[in-house]
Amino acid sequence: MTLRDIFEKKKKPKFLFFGGKGGVGKTSCSAAAALYAAEQGISTLILSTDPAHSLGDSFQQKLSGNPTPIEGVPNLEAIEFDVKQSMKEAEDKLRSSEETSEVMAQAEMLGVTEMFDTTPPGADEALAFSKILDYIDEPTHELIIFDTAPTGHTLRFLSLPDVFDSWIGKLIMLRMRLSSFIGTIKKFFGRGDEKDTSLEQLKLFKKRIEAARPELSDPNKTEFIPVLIPAQMAIFETERLLQALYEYEIPVKHVVVNMIAPDSQDCAFCMARKKVQSESIQTIKEYYEDFILTEVPLFDTEVQGLEMLRKVAKILF
Ligand SMILES: Nc1ncnc2c1ncn2[C@@H]1O[C@H](COP(=O)(O)OP(=O)(O)OP(=O)(O)O)[C@@H](O)[C@H]1O
Ligand SMILES: [Mg+2]
Repeated sequence: MTLRDIFEKKKKPKFLFFGGKGGVGKTSCSAAAALYAAEQGISTLILSTDPAHSLGDSFQQKLSGNPTPIEGVPNLEAIEFDVKQSMKEAEDKLRSSEETSEVMAQAEMLGVTEMFDTTPPGADEALAFSKILDYIDEPTHELIIFDTAPTGHTLRFLSLPDVFDSWIGKLIMLRMRLSSFIGTIKKFFGRGDEKDTSLEQLKLFKKRIEAARPELSDPNKTEFIPVLIPAQMAIFETERLLQALYEYEIPVKHVVVNMIAPDSQDCAFCMARKKVQSESIQTIKEYYEDFILTEVPLFDTEVQGLEMLRKVAKILF
């Protein structure tokens, strides 16, 4: 079975996500799927938030945070969004703002500056998620493929309580408290007229999530495709991923099993690997009988360049 039916439906999806454990082939499968869709005449954008620039490696082309046309492929643009870089930019901007220096002065007074030294956990995922939100109502492409969700956690912000529990929510609340504290001090010294916009910002973030949720849970528009390899660890991780996707109501129909070892009778090592893998494949078939499984073999080269990506696309579709 293949992923082919995805683009044969009358109503083609707008968003495809590829996710799974590290190194299982998410970027390779996303890039191959994007190439396939573009060559079917679908105007496609592929977006990666992987700081290792592996999407650029897949297409053997330098990419950036803005849509870059893939050379030799009409209808295909790619974005490699550097989460770490833009987090650093945001931090620098925040540090240089007048308000922050006032907050820092207060923090110094209270002896709690270390609170601001580390980036809150999950900040990169929140930023990756807000990048996804940026493209939800993007009108110029018919299809957007996200190679951005190592696990379902990037999408956990779709769940409302999580928004407030997240560091963004907490940070904004903290800012609100601090700025009202600073406001009181300012009033005391006779200049307390600035308005705080933190709550508006949180409300706006909430609104964007609310607008995205029906799009991302509509099986006519969105599909999340877990990728795994035939190994116990990858199966455990996929179980957790599927559980999370179920909770966030993200449609899943297909599962890709990548890097299946070839048969080779004259290599004892290969046969041993194959045996281990076939046990896992059996488990995968039992666990995921409700999903359409697509098997991709292990190649003897890296999946890089259009020729290799077409080879993978041919198997996937
Ligand atoms: N079927 C395959 N056969 C051989 N090599 C493969 C196959 N699929 C992927 N690879 C190679 O395995 C490596 C990991 O693949 P890829 O970068 O697509 O994984 P990933 O899940 O995106 O990894 P990460 O979690 O680091 O983002 C790459 O070097 C890629 O070229
Ligand atoms: Mg990757």
